[in-house]
Amino acid sequence: MRDVNRRRALVTGGAGFLGSHLCERLLAEGHDVLCVDNYYTGTRENLKSMLGSPRFEILRHDVTFPLYVEVDEIYNLACPASPVHYQFDPVQTTKTSVHGAINMLGLAKRVRARILQASTSEVYGDPDVHPQPESYWGRVNPIGIRACYDEGKRCAETLFFDYYRQHRLPIKVARIFNTYGPRMHPGDGRVVSNFIVKALQGEPLEVYGEGSQTRSFCYVDDMVSALMLFMAGDDGFPGPLNLGNPGEFTILELAEQVIERSGSRSKIVFAPLPADDPRQRQPDIALAREKLGWQPTTPLAEGLDRTIEYFDGLLGRDARA
Ligand SMILES: NC(=O)c1ccc[n+]([C@@H]2O[C@H](COP(=O)([O-])OP(=O)(O)OC[C@H]3O[C@@H](n4cnc5c(N)ncnc54)[C@H](O)[C@@H]3O)[C@@H](O)[C@H]2O)c1
Repeated sequence: MRDVNRRRALVTGGAGFLGSHLCERLLAEGHDVLCVDNYYTGTRENLKSMLGSPRFEILRHDVTFPLYVEVDEIYNLACPASPVHYQFDPVQTTKTSVHGAINMLGLAKRVRARILQASTSEVYGDPDVHPQPESYWGRVNPIGIRACYDEGKRCAETLFFDYYRQHRLPIKVARIFNTYGPRMHPGDGRVVSNFIVKALQGEPLEVYGEGSQTRSFCYVDDMVSALMLFMAGDDGFPGPLNLGNPGEFTILELAEQVIERSGSRSKIVFAPLPADDPRQRQPDIALAREKLGWQPTTPLAEGLDRTIEYFDGLLGRDARA
C-alpha cells in the first residue's frame, strides 16, 4: 500500500544542475522520484548521492518522444539552459521545449498529474521594462540565434496555458532567473561558473566595460524551495511566476568576491563591452513573495563558497584523472 502523503514525482532533466538538486530534495522529503534524462548536458555523476535509494529511479529517455508512466506530479526541466549548449543544436533545443511540453502535458492529462514548467526570464527577451513583472509580454527576436531557446520556452508556456484552459490541467509556470551552485556545467560559459573556473586555474577573469553592469544570482537551494512550494500551492494559481534573487551585484564585485573567496591570485582584466550586454538583470519577485511567502535566503558569499568548493573538487579530480 502506498502512503497517501508520499508522492511519485517525475523530474525531466533530472540529471542536470537544477534537476539533480530537486531530485535530492524530493527524496529527502520522502517522495518517490523518477529522473528522466537523455544526458545531453546532465551526468550520472550528478545523481550519485541518490543511486542507493530504493525510492529513486533513473530512465534514459528523450522527452521529444512520448512517455507512459504513473506519477502524481511532473517537474519539466529538460532543456539545455546555457547559450553554448542550446545553440549547439538549435533544432533539437526547440524540439525539446515544444515536443517535450506536448509529451509531458499529454502524460499529465492522462494520469491527472500536476505539472510544473521550468520556464525562463529569457521569455522577456531584450526587455524595454526593468525589472520585468509577470504581466510584461517580452521583446524577443523570433529569428535570432537565441530564439530556439526563447521562443521554444514561450511556445511551451502557450501550450501549458492552453492545457490549463482547455483541459483544466493543474499547471504551474515558473520563470526562472539566473541560478547558480554546485553541479553547474564547468564549460557552460555562464558568469559565475566561468569566473570560478578561471580563478581556480589562476587565469585572468575577463570583465566587460568597467564591470558596472549589474546581475542577480539565486542560489540553487533557494530555487528548489520555490519550485516545490509552487508545485504544492493552490491549483487556482498557474503563474506565470518570476523566481530569482533580486539582490544586485556589479560584475566587478562578483569577480572580486570570487577571487577573494577562492584565495586565487588571478587578475581582473577589462575587455570592450559587447553591443548586447544588458546594463541590468534583476527579477521582480513581488508575486512570489505574495503567493508562496518565499524569498531567497542564501547570501551570495555563502553560495559562492559552496560553489567554489564543488568546482575545486571537480577540477582537482579532473587534473588527477
Ligand atoms: N540555471 C538557470 O539559471 C536557469 C534559468 C532559467 C531557466 N532554467 C531552466 O531550468 C531547467 C534546468 O536548467 P539547468 O540549469 O539545470 O540546465 P542543465 O543543462 O544542467 O539541465 C538540463 C537537463 O535536461 C536534460 N535534457 C536536455 N534535453 C533533453 C531531452 N530532449 N530529453 C531529456 N532530457 C534532456 C539535460 O541532459 C540536462 O540534464 C531548464 O529547462 C532551463 O531552461 C534554468
